Amino acid sequence: MNADLLVVGSGFFGLTIAERAANELGLNVVVIDRRPHIGGNAFSEAEPETGIEVHRYGAHLFHTSNERVWEYVNRFTSFTGYVHRVYTRHDGEVFPMPINLGTINQFFRAAYGPEEARALIREQAGELAGTDPQNLNDKGIQLIGRPLYEAFIKHYTAKQWQTDPKDLPASVIARLPVRYTYDNRYFNDTHEGLPVDGYTAWLERMADNPRIEVRLDTDFFAGDHDFASKNVLGRLPIVYTGPVDRYFDYAEGALSWRTLDFEEEVLPVGDFQGTSVMNYPDEDVPFTRIHEFRHFHPERDYPTDKTVIMREFSRFAEPGDEPYYPVNTAEDRERLLAYRDLAHGERNVLFGGRLGTYKYLDMHMAIGSALSMFDNKIAPALRAGASFE
Ligand code: FAD
Ligand code: NA
Repeated sequence: MNADLLVVGSGFFGLTIAERAANELGLNVVVIDRRPHIGGNAFSEAEPETGIEVHRYGAHLFHTSNERVWEYVNRFTSFTGYVHRVYTRHDGEVFPMPINLGTINQFFRAAYGPEEARALIREQAGELAGTDPQNLNDKGIQLIGRPLYEAFIKHYTAKQWQTDPKDLPASVIARLPVRYTYDNRYFNDTHEGLPVDGYTAWLERMADNPRIEVRLDTDFFAGDHDFASKNVLGRLPIVYTGPVDRYFDYAEGALSWRTLDFEEEVLPVGDFQGTSVMNYPDEDVPFTRIHEFRHFHPERDYPTDKTVIMREFSRFAEPGDEPYYPVNTAEDRERLLAYRDLAHGERNVLFGGRLGTYKYLDMHMAIGSALSMFDNKIAPALRAGASFE
């Protein structure tokens, strides 16, 4: 194929760019991905024994208040009416999350109204009033008081970071939302739902165009294929959505990430936990949460005698691990600024997406940011036959 544009990475960012360039500009686009499947971290597939759709890289819930993104994604899929809710299992009891009036009343064995609950939390948070917390532990206590912090946040955070919260910077949490109502809807965006026939069908429809060719198992930096960096740099406009530090051979040092390990199991019961996500905030359980995928699609005809669960573990990423969440230390931020300068200087290459910008992006944010990059940088340049700024 005679390519007009190369997109590195077939996640939502890369596919949005490819779709727009092919449909809006009539360009031939090649999308390469090093993985054996399309879709980046949003990829999902049917677990073979049960047919239950499993999100391979962790549960993905779609939600947005961005009307432009909502209109755009509805061109490729419709959405179910799924509404996400999370529960948490602490000390042999199950509580609703995020912390709300139901959680508070159950925890304190009380029947407080909103004002009484507010006053109680204010009093408990008063333990560290007027201080400037330097670590996450003190910050947590100052935000919601010691009892709720120690029950629901402290060990959960320790497990997420494999670090005692006393040794984590206060900046890891900006706020801990407490709702003084019984509303335990997890997201409060205008639109929410799951793709009716799954994430992969949606992602494949974005690339379903004779002008788009997707090449899997193809690493931009490895081998001598037609679209390897050494063969295309300087010859073809490129949108790169892989890790920005890798692009520059870690010249400014490696950026740090957290990764997740998933342990999947098929159980011989129709329903394991009665809900899609259960958090485990206690110290004596090694995982952070359990996903049960059948509950994402109660409308589907899934087997009634089997279910699929996935335990999630969290840790710092080592070289070779999948990068999931930016750690964002002061050192990382400095390195990122240096990489941004390098990226600006890179002729005819644009850096985008989660890995290319070292930023956690929800799906709607990745799509929204790709639509903006297309409008502001890609379309004007390619229409004029110019290179990317
Ligand atoms: P990615 O999806 O990471 O795609 C980048 C692609 O580039 C990958 O396929 C990778 O293989 C490829 N690539 C990298 N290097 C190379 C190379 N050298 N050569 C070729 N290809 C390369 N969002 C939500 O809205 N709701 C959620 O509930 C949600 N849950 C999430 C849970 C987890 C654990 C994670 C990590 C993310 C979650 N997200 C969620 C975010 C969602 O996955 C992102 O929006 C999405 O990943 C961003 O898309 P992207 O295209 O920027 O990156
Ligand atoms: Na550039």
